[in-house]
Amino acid sequence: MSAPASPEVRPLRIAVFASGRGSNLQALHRAITHDALPAQLVGVFSDKAGSGAIAYAEAQHIAHSHLDPKSFATREDFDAALMQKAAAVTPDLIVCAGFMRIISETGIRAAACPMINIHPSLLPKYPGLHTHARALAAGDAEHGASVHRVEAVLDGGRILSQAKIAVMPDDTPERLAQRVLAIEHPLLIATVRAIAEGRITLSEGADTRVSWLNHRLELE
Ligand code: GRF
Repeated sequence: MSAPASPEVRPLRIAVFASGRGSNLQALHRAITHDALPAQLVGVFSDKAGSGAIAYAEAQHIAHSHLDPKSFATREDFDAALMQKAAAVTPDLIVCAGFMRIISETGIRAAACPMINIHPSLLPKYPGLHTHARALAAGDAEHGASVHRVEAVLDGGRILSQAKIAVMPDDTPERLAQRVLAIEHPLLIATVRAIAEGRITLSEGADTRVSWLNHRLELE
């Protein structure tokens, strides 16, 4: 008798929102192409035409699109257009990876799927900008990065995972930013993998796969 066929696992369809250099996007893409992440990058969306993220998507033949905020009368109009474009690639998950715009509440509500964001601090400490300088100014012994669900509070959605490093006596904001970035990449990959594998679940309603858990990943 042959064993029952196991149900086919569909790779998680990921759309990335990014404004800048795009190193987190690249880390996700590398993990996918090295079979370390059961996912597919279905689109990259940016508010900056000249961003590294858009250049990378273009070079790697990943579907991408840029929307200029100046072409929209209001933040809500921009967000509606962004969410509509993203919905067209039918993502399971939107990853904000260095997306330097606040998304309005109506924009968040219009998203076709759950959205997560990577933020360079140990939230709830230091939402917003200049996180590394703020951690240094406060004399913190530890600093790090968090992945959280995007909710209508700036960097205030439910925390899904965190990774930390020790602050060194000779750290400058730039040096600290560099060392935090190095742990952001494995943190984001591990978090998206946990979502893809159902260890962090993502639905609030019956129509999504799972429900959000406040799940902290341990990184080696
Ligand atoms: C990262 O530090 C991320 O945490 C923050 O913006 C930066 C983006 O870097 N939100 P990159 O564009 O992914 O290289």
